[in-house]
Amino acid sequence: MSDDDTSPERGTDEADGEENRARTDGGAERSRTEGRRAVPDGGVALDPWGSATVADYRELFEEFGIEEFEAIIDEVPEPHYLMRRGVIFGHRDYGAVARALANDEPAAALSGFMPTGDPHIGHKLVFDELIYHQEQGADTYGLIADLEAHSARGLTWEEIDEHARDYLLSLLALGFDPEDGELYRQSTNRRLQDLAFELGSNARFAEFESIYGFDGETSVSHMQSVVTQMADILYPQLDEPKPTVIPVGPDQDPHVRLSRDIARKTRYFRVTEAFASPEFDAAERVLVGRAYDRREEWAEDPETPRCEDAAAWLAEADVDAEFESARAGAVEKLENAGMEPLRPRTRFLDRNADEDAFEALIEAVPGEKRVFDAHIDSFELDREDAEELAREVEVDNGGFGFYTPSSIYHRFMTGLTGGKMSSSIEASHISLLDDPEEGYDKVKSATTGGRETADKQRELGGKADECPVYELYAYLLANDDDGFAEEVYEECVGGERLCGGCKEQAATLMREFLADHQEKREEAEELLADLDIDLDVDGSRRGIPGDEE
Ligand code: TRP
Ligand code: SF4
Repeated sequence: MSDDDTSPERGTDEADGEENRARTDGGAERSRTEGRRAVPDGGVALDPWGSATVADYRELFEEFGIEEFEAIIDEVPEPHYLMRRGVIFGHRDYGAVARALANDEPAAALSGFMPTGDPHIGHKLVFDELIYHQEQGADTYGLIADLEAHSARGLTWEEIDEHARDYLLSLLALGFDPEDGELYRQSTNRRLQDLAFELGSNARFAEFESIYGFDGETSVSHMQSVVTQMADILYPQLDEPKPTVIPVGPDQDPHVRLSRDIARKTRYFRVTEAFASPEFDAAERVLVGRAYDRREEWAEDPETPRCEDAAAWLAEADVDAEFESARAGAVEKLENAGMEPLRPRTRFLDRNADEDAFEALIEAVPGEKRVFDAHIDSFELDREDAEELAREVEVDNGGFGFYTPSSIYHRFMTGLTGGKMSSSIEASHISLLDDPEEGYDKVKSATTGGRETADKQRELGGKADECPVYELYAYLLANDDDGFAEEVYEECVGGERLCGGCKEQAATLMREFLADHQEKREEAEELLADLDIDLDVDGSRRGIPGDEE
């Protein structure tokens, strides 16, 4: 796999097998920031500040290398209902976080909110994802992306202060425990800003151009908000490196990819697998590994297989089409290595280590090893132990030792009026601050996946998969009760459930949810007042909001 994940990668298998779980095809949305951007070669890119919709989630696997969540759910100790119902559909490296949680090892979760309007039921997905990880034992962080709202959305500090309060109150009301986690706003967090500055050394304008489409018109403050987000994502690892998950909508994936890339660039050492002194790329390594496994067939002495003999074998061997292009390079490197024995090993490549750190690593590698100018080969450590040792030595010698951050992606919610859920279209979304009666009314007037007449509905069943009301059940109203969500689904598609009654039930549940949530928000006021977070920067800050959209 490519070391640099900002370049397009091929994904894994296609999404399939969607039938047997209560799930919907709609998209969930966390704000109006969902979008894709056209790029010069005619393709598309995910755009965190754009406004288009994600038409096909499968494309995200194929085009961007996001992995299917379904493939990993069995490794998650107690999967959240949003995971079980396929609302969380994709991830990068979530296995690292799942394993840490399962083994009671340190892990963290962090997400951020741009305070551009009222928090709504799309944001609730992310609040719930954070709280879930907190309950599972992760150090959990929630942040207010005020720098981004000011520079990329042009909000005034007064507006930002007001919305920031509202996001935090809802997060607390839903169960976030501030004693056991941290809430902050970007602009007042000095440690964060220091980290952002350091990470900026590893971010190039050319990358911003290709990832975000930034150009000569982009304000420097907007760019600063991007490095700040990179710092947000790595902030949980400042005291101690640990697997960290960033729950977000897929529109945020460009930020995730860039942060993964930057995190890797800060590392002192890179651990790879090798077979001889040459450095093989990933595809070449597969071929050389195959040659090694079949050494009985070609080595004069299989105890000491020689590189040049492997080269001769590999030049003639049958290889899968996908590796054909790697063959010539592998053969050439093996030929150049001549009589050198082919022997598996774990390699530490020096990337950013100073002399002391490199020396310290040489010392620390146990057992048989070979030391070169800029790498060390170990014949005893496996890859995982080597990773751990490299991180330890890095941290002991003044480095960060970051784990490459992980992410999970949830679907965007469909608007109640059909189309996308948007903060700017009142009737399309339900704000967490909506009067409960208003919430009731909005659900009552939502579009549905129902048929034209009741008779047809009884005959053909409703289209739950295309119904925003069903989504409300699956994403929110059914809560942890899978049986209930499935019952609604089955009754709908089986023609036993008619839209009038179904909406009445959903609207009533929504009214109850909003009333209860708002009561809890009032109780959370006190918690919020006790937190060390400045919610009145407007009093002390003069603003020049950016005007970019
Ligand atoms: N860019 C995010 C948004 O548009 C907000 C954000 C800032 C964020 N920092 C973050 C999200 C870190 C996840 C992690 O809403
Ligand atoms: Fe949607 Fe309910 Fe009608 Fe089915 S019965 S289409 S879930 S509103």
